[in-house]
Amino acid sequence: MKNRTYINNSSDTANGDKKHGMDRRGFIKTAITAGAVLTVGPAMNNMIAAETAASNTVNSGIGNKYERLALKRRLGSGMAAFDVSAIGLGLMGMTYNRSEHPDKKHCVRLIHEAVERGVTLFDTAIVYGPLNNELLAGEALKPFKGKVNVTTKFGHEIINGKATGRQDSRPATIRKYCEESLRRLQVDCISLFYQHRFDPNVSVEDVAGTIQDLIKEGKVLHWGMCEVSADTIRKANAVCPLTAIQSEYHLMHRLVEYNGVLNVCRELGIGFVPYSPLNRGFLGGCINEYTQFDINNDNRQTLPRFTHEAIRANTRIVNVLQHFGRTRGMTSSQVALGWLLNKEPWIVPIPGTTKLSHLEENLRTIEFEVNDAEWNKLEETVAEIPVTGERYNAEQQRQVGF
Ligand SMILES: NC(=O)c1ccc[n+]([C@@H]2O[C@H](COP(=O)([O-])OP(=O)(O)OC[C@H]3O[C@@H](n4cnc5c(N)ncnc54)[C@H](OP(=O)(O)O)[C@@H]3O)[C@@H](O)[C@H]2O)c1
Repeated sequence: MKNRTYINNSSDTANGDKKHGMDRRGFIKTAITAGAVLTVGPAMNNMIAAETAASNTVNSGIGNKYERLALKRRLGSGMAAFDVSAIGLGLMGMTYNRSEHPDKKHCVRLIHEAVERGVTLFDTAIVYGPLNNELLAGEALKPFKGKVNVTTKFGHEIINGKATGRQDSRPATIRKYCEESLRRLQVDCISLFYQHRFDPNVSVEDVAGTIQDLIKEGKVLHWGMCEVSADTIRKANAVCPLTAIQSEYHLMHRLVEYNGVLNVCRELGIGFVPYSPLNRGFLGGCINEYTQFDINNDNRQTLPRFTHEAIRANTRIVNVLQHFGRTRGMTSSQVALGWLLNKEPWIVPIPGTTKLSHLEENLRTIEFEVNDAEWNKLEETVAEIPVTGERYNAEQQRQVGF
């Protein structure tokens, strides 16, 4: 796997990058020219940049014994650069939409285990719960303030603690949600604030302008958008540079490769955070047609890709991943995550889990070496199998792609 490439980045931190006004590609070039590459894998071409030995920056003082898991990647460039662990942790399923979950004490402990292993990127949103996922993140990560980052998301309207199903990204609402998220997360500044879904009633320029003001006021450090089009990304980035786009991306859903989103990220130096990188657990191989989803707390039962028929048909894809992993000592989750990590050095997946064993397994993905030809072969084999069922139902589909 290409992510064995290391760059000694002790002096070229995100801040250093900003100071010199150097964009990411400039940084890569300089790092190579300066001989900063310590160990270079065979295929360093498109991998090199943002993966950095992080030992003495974000993780210092946390007792990180998993040195290799602390490899870092850079989302965004220039003033928008944001250095994070190569794999993040999605917190949503600890309270919301992934069926029954362990109690808060267990989840706090698991989040601490992730910090211990070098994870510095934790993802939540106001709508998860709603609200209780941010509260969990705030409580669990308080002891690591300034050392790890919590990203959160605004956009879905919440009234009296309940999601209405409408979007509200009016400037005054963004400001209100920002203040409330700051309180729940127990931080002075939100590391990365995403617009969760586009609001057709508010121009992208107004949203970007509001975020720019919040950045000036020190309440937000970076920003991003979820599930938007290449055109929207361009408009938003022109007003206030984006750090990351967060959209669904995995071996069963590769839309961002075809709709221009990854291309525009590459061109503008914006990072990409694939959400649901295991296709909501499906690529982990533990879901079959008998799996029962909690009717009160699991959106998978509403998704066409999770009907019994779709699960049965799509299991062929999981079988391919398992087969690929068998001779390499990898699980299907590790194959799914490794494929994403290999795509670009500015891609940072955020798998979610409620189990220490899965956390460990997912993070250890970066230990495997798989070359480009092998990944390409896997990709081709998977692409030959038609995916059964749409990823979203009609209502959810209406909210994406603006
Ligand atoms: N921006 C957006 O619109 C958006 C939408 C959805 C999600 N997200 C973000 O993305 C994060 C992850 O998404 P997700 O939870 O939908 O999907 P995911 O990460 O693809 O899958 C999570 C599911 O996979 C299971 N799992 C994790 N590791 C596993 C392993 N090694 N083997 C087998 N099963 C495994 C988990 O169950 P266990 O608990 O049993 O491990 C969990 O149910 C969320 O937490 C959230 O932060 C963002």
